[in-house]
Amino acid sequence: MESYSNKVMEHFKNPRNVGEMEKPDGIGHVGNPVCGDIMELYIRVKDNIITDAKFKTFGCGAAIATSSMVTELVKGKNLEEALKLTNQAVVDALDGLPKVKLHCSVLAEQALKRAIDDYLKKTTGKGLGLPETDPDHHEACEHELPEELK
Ligand code: FES
Repeated sequence: MESYSNKVMEHFKNPRNVGEMEKPDGIGHVGNPVCGDIMELYIRVKDNIITDAKFKTFGCGAAIATSSMVTELVKGKNLEEALKLTNQAVVDALDGLPKVKLHCSVLAEQALKRAIDDYLKKTTGKGLGLPETDPDHHEACEHELPEELK
C-alpha cells in the first residue's frame, strides 16, 4: 500500500487556516456523503486578489491536508491564477497522494472554484457557469450529492 508523504502528514496534523471566516467574500461548499467528507472553503478578495482563505473540512486525512494546502497556495493569487490551480498542483505541493486518495484532492479544487464562483455571482451577478454538481468527484465516489449538500 502506498503511504502518505511527510508533508501530507504534517498538514493533516497541523492544518493551516482552519475555521470559519467572518463575512467571507465567497464560500465554496462541496460534499461527499458516501465517504462522509464535507468541505467548506472561504475566501476574502480585495482588488481581484485573494487576501485570505480558510476552510472547514469534516473528513479523511487527505481531504484535510489538501484543504490546508489549497488555502496556503491561493493566498496572494489573483482570481485568474487561483482558477488555474488544479488538484494536481495541490497534490504536487504535498509531495503526492496515494492513488486511491487522489479524488480527495478534487474536492479541494472544486471547493475553491465554487468559492470564486460565489464571489463572482455576488459581485458581478455572473458566475463561472459551474454544473449543479461536480461529476468528477461523484464518479469517483459513485454517488449523487443529496439535496441538503448542494
Ligand atoms: Fe477523502 Fe472521499 S475519502 S474525499
